[in-house]
Amino acid sequence: MAKSKSAYFCQSCGYESAKWLGKCPACNQWNSFVEELIQKPAPNVPDWKPTGKLNARVARPAAIHEIVYSEENRLITPDKELNRVLGGGVVPGSLVLIGGEPGIGKSTLMLQVALNLPGLKVLYVSGEESEHQIKMRAERIVPSGGRPETYILTETSTQNIFKQIEQMEPEVVVIDSIQTLHSSFIESTPGSVSQVRECTAELLRFAKETSTPVFLIGHITKDGTIAGPKILEHMVDTVLQFEGDRHHVYRILRSVKNRFGSASELGIYEMQGTGLREVSNPSEILLSQREEQLSGITISAMLEGLRPMLIETQALVSPSAYGTPQRSATGFDTRRMNMLLAVLEKRCGFRLSAQDVFLNIAGGLRVEDPAVDLGIVAAIISSHEDIAISQHACFAAEVGLSGEIRAVNRVEQRIAEAQKLGFEAIYISKYNQKGLDLSRYSIEIKSVAKIEEVFENLFG
Ligand code: TYD
Ligand code: MG
Repeated sequence: MAKSKSAYFCQSCGYESAKWLGKCPACNQWNSFVEELIQKPAPNVPDWKPTGKLNARVARPAAIHEIVYSEENRLITPDKELNRVLGGGVVPGSLVLIGGEPGIGKSTLMLQVALNLPGLKVLYVSGEESEHQIKMRAERIVPSGGRPETYILTETSTQNIFKQIEQMEPEVVVIDSIQTLHSSFIESTPGSVSQVRECTAELLRFAKETSTPVFLIGHITKDGTIAGPKILEHMVDTVLQFEGDRHHVYRILRSVKNRFGSASELGIYEMQGTGLREVSNPSEILLSQREEQLSGITISAMLEGLRPMLIETQALVSPSAYGTPQRSATGFDTRRMNMLLAVLEKRCGFRLSAQDVFLNIAGGLRVEDPAVDLGIVAAIISSHEDIAISQHACFAAEVGLSGEIRAVNRVEQRIAEAQKLGFEAIYISKYNQKGLDLSRYSIEIKSVAKIEEVFENLFG
């Protein structure tokens, strides 16, 4: 056995150095170097041997027009949200990384996929939970106990995993999680940069050589990045982020990087007692059911990724009981709310500086689309004046610093979604109206240029 060797690795980007450095030359992070034991395998010792049926091919250049490619090769899972986020199903031989905070539901999502793949042999490798725990979870998701073709392996050594894979030849592999794996070719602890990199490289080789799709679950560090070197994200084909507020039931699966599809797709799930349920029409659940019209509530047509949805914004404006008024926003940037309040104060003459203002986006979502500006401004004034806004109207426009109503992207999609959900009127910017074929819509399109026009229209 060769003498063990160590090197210093930047924990933030994976940069390798022979000696300790105070500052990483690659990512400029301070104090990020940690010594890790590494041991290079002796040359010519393959860590994973292809089985007979999958002889390693010798790559040759091919003319691009001769390469045959068909979309039908994709594996379509019964989970429509996942298919969409992946760009239309799982590509054979792809390596998909799913990142998310602890407890958000990554294991649940992947186990659910593993249990529901029709007619395929699936291997679910867990380094985190025991077989019993996984069985218990499977019972919750599929009470009948799952399909016989789903296999559970509790193992963390990649060499042992590959040994089992060679025997059972699974058609899909799930690894929960990449940070618990270790390769015996490297001596550092599981979860360290060099281990994560090595294990991912081995799995990548396996995926490409056998055309088996591999799903990796990855943990998230405190600052919201996937733990492990940044190069992990470069190595895999697709990076999906699973996010949501743990106190709410909705979860969003977002594509951050995708070599096989759009990176702005998104899937929505609802966490139930029996696993994750796909939410195919998000607008319907994001609009809270209410009987009467209340002040301070408006609906905005926003886009998440490429998907239009209508969300409810709620504002509460009340006289401040203490010296400094409180300003608080849930699901929306507080600085942006303060800017909108300043516009209302300065351009429209509303006296809001002595008022507490609370803002809430329903459903626990975080909204970054500027098209919700107008809806938020209208909700604030509706609460301030205590006049309810019709439930049948919605908004899709950005508000500028001088109180002008600005155009937003993909307005046709937003209008179409509002119309589909039965809204009777939508407020958009006058500048969005150009080139818009109004006769195509049955919904009334109110185009406005200034914030005052909106208020005149709404409050008379
Ligand atoms: P888990 O998938 O273990 O999260 P992660 O792998 O991302 O750490 O799941 C987390 C939470 O989901 C857990 O707190 C329990 C809850 N849960 C349900 O609400 N319903 C279910 O059917 C299951 C399986 C879990
Ligand atoms: Mg888990």
